[in-house]
Amino acid sequence: GTPGDLTGKRIVISAGGTREPLDPVRFLGNRSSGKQGVALAEAAAARGADVVLVAANLEVPAPANVDVRLVSSAADLERAMTEAAAEADVIIMAAAVADYRPSEVRAEKIKKEDTGDTLVLTLVRNPDILAGLAAARKPGQIVIGFAAETEADPGLLLELGREKAARKGCDYLVLNRVGWTEGFASERNEVRVLNRHGDIVIEVSGSKMSVAERILDLLS
Ligand code: PMT
Repeated sequence: GTPGDLTGKRIVISAGGTREPLDPVRFLGNRSSGKQGVALAEAAAARGADVVLVAANLEVPAPANVDVRLVSSAADLERAMTEAAAEADVIIMAAAVADYRPSEVRAEKIKKEDTGDTLVLTLVRNPDILAGLAAARKPGQIVIGFAAETEADPGLLLELGREKAARKGCDYLVLNRVGWTEGFASERNEVRVLNRHGDIVIEVSGSKMSVAERILDLLS
């Protein structure tokens, strides 16, 4: 990217994976390391943007020159994003957010002596943070979401991305295939960026930093 081309822009980025508590010592989580969101934050700051990074359980260090807001659960992330969104020109949701959380958080550690050989957890839906931010966006504010799908067939993968783009109502949706070794926690990423009509506007495969730079090119 061109140095300074995002000067004066306030960009709010979520990164990492949420943790939904079960009891004081356990959670339901996912394998997001935060690398893709952190690369976006680092690249945006290097290009002059004023960056807020809403960081959920990162496995990599946050960049030094950004305003970091630490969160853990989807509910925390929603509060932090909603607060930061009020001042944002651009919102990017790179975090992997739990779709469900345990219906109750136990005050004491769940004990196998009490539960026996099988333990059934009841989960309830979390709000869709991205869809909420997109629906509430101010005039001129740009909202970018991600779509993480395990579908192996490239055509079907694109279909899922298009459906998600329509459902979420964001300006751009970054579609990446994820799996045991791809997307989550990897060094590289392979993405297609869709606009709100589902047209492919960018196709890039490379380091998470190079993917970040191409996404930010949409803003300059
Ligand atoms: O962190 P890394 O290890 O570098 O991995 C990067 C990544 C694969 C996690 C990242 O590139 C990515 O795809 N992030 C989005 C993961 C995700 O939650 O995808 P999804 O298809 O389940 O959700 C779609 C979009 O809705 C995402 O922007 C997500 O942030 C958002 N969402 C999802 C559920 C929910 N309850 N609220 C949301 O806002």
